[in-house]
Amino acid sequence: MPGEIPDESRIPAAAQPRPATPYIVIDLNIVRQRYAALRRLLPDATIYYAVKANPVVPVVAALAALGANFDIASEGELRRCREAGVTADRLSFGNTIKRDHEIADAVATGVGLFAFDSETELDKLARNAPGSRVFCRLLIENRGAEWPLSRKFGCEAHMAADLLIAARDRGLCPVGVSFHVGSQQTDPGAWPHAIGHAAWVFRACAHRGLGLELLNLGGGLPAHYRAAVPPLEAYVDAIESGLSREFGASRPSLLIEPGRYLVGDAGTLRAQVLLIARKSPHEHERWVYLDAGRFNGLPETEAERIHYPLRTPRDGSPCGTVILAGPTCDSSDILYRRHPYELPLELQVGDQVEFLSAGAYTASYAAVEFNGFAPIRTYCV
Ligand SMILES: Cc1ncc(COP(=O)(O)O)c(C=O)c1O
Repeated sequence: MPGEIPDESRIPAAAQPRPATPYIVIDLNIVRQRYAALRRLLPDATIYYAVKANPVVPVVAALAALGANFDIASEGELRRCREAGVTADRLSFGNTIKRDHEIADAVATGVGLFAFDSETELDKLARNAPGSRVFCRLLIENRGAEWPLSRKFGCEAHMAADLLIAARDRGLCPVGVSFHVGSQQTDPGAWPHAIGHAAWVFRACAHRGLGLELLNLGGGLPAHYRAAVPPLEAYVDAIESGLSREFGASRPSLLIEPGRYLVGDAGTLRAQVLLIARKSPHEHERWVYLDAGRFNGLPETEAERIHYPLRTPRDGSPCGTVILAGPTCDSSDILYRRHPYELPLELQVGDQVEFLSAGAYTASYAAVEFNGFAPIRTYCV
């Protein structure tokens, strides 16, 4: 039904033939392994899964069973978490742009932790969530991120300190600071840099008689696409060194909000070749059109930012450069043109093309029904 996130369900054990493409398969064991690795390497941080990365109920339920908490962005995500059996005390409303009634409803459900980055949002929180714990999001440089969040979120450190003091004066309970170093952050050094800014706010507030206790390290940990990224250990080492440098022995409580890292590598998006074409008899450039594209599952190919590894049944045979495009009538529905992809020369219409590490920002991050193409379905195994 248009407007609904596609139903996710367990892939039928005897799914022969396979479901019609395109669809996403999530391996819940990989999600569990990623969670366990982060838990082990960063035991002092409370993990809040950023539900937006993949909101299907089996993913939320699998993480909930392991004790995860959840970062939500809307009342829709709040409902998803509740459907998966998560109690409201395990939720943080991390979106800095909320409606009054969303805040009030979240409070009525039992949510007690909210983000803000502006005076107007602070007013909304003071009106609708008096006494709640709130944290201010800092504006942080996103250099090194393959999916930067630009300047849309956060405020400068000076302003954050002023807003946290104002929060106290308005009857809220200001607890700390958050940041996001940009999604698919390839440089672990982004965290110590951001922690330096956060520590400045802690000190500025302390001078004004407000002790902060919570540091939210945000998202940004990477999945594994075509380019190699440092191992998780390198990120944890960078975080630890930033914390030691800035806070010494008096560390705040830590919270981290991984999205992509937990679910990205757990997903495979299966598409089918619909058409292979050339633009003239003299051109060698092969255009390969798939049944998945920018509007159904692969929006992060915008500006060719995220480079998924591909797999086909004809891998191992000689390859040639292709331009990859989706099925819709929109010219922006071209996945990769500037960044050359090589696919087997034998590739045929009807062959399956798999996008690997496609578990994050694919399932729900898609058009409802652009050009009449249904939203992509997700199956969990
Ligand atoms: C507030 C917040 N936390 C966490 C995340 C998750 O980020 P990532 O998927 O890069 O880990 C996001 C993503 O946009 C976010 O907005």
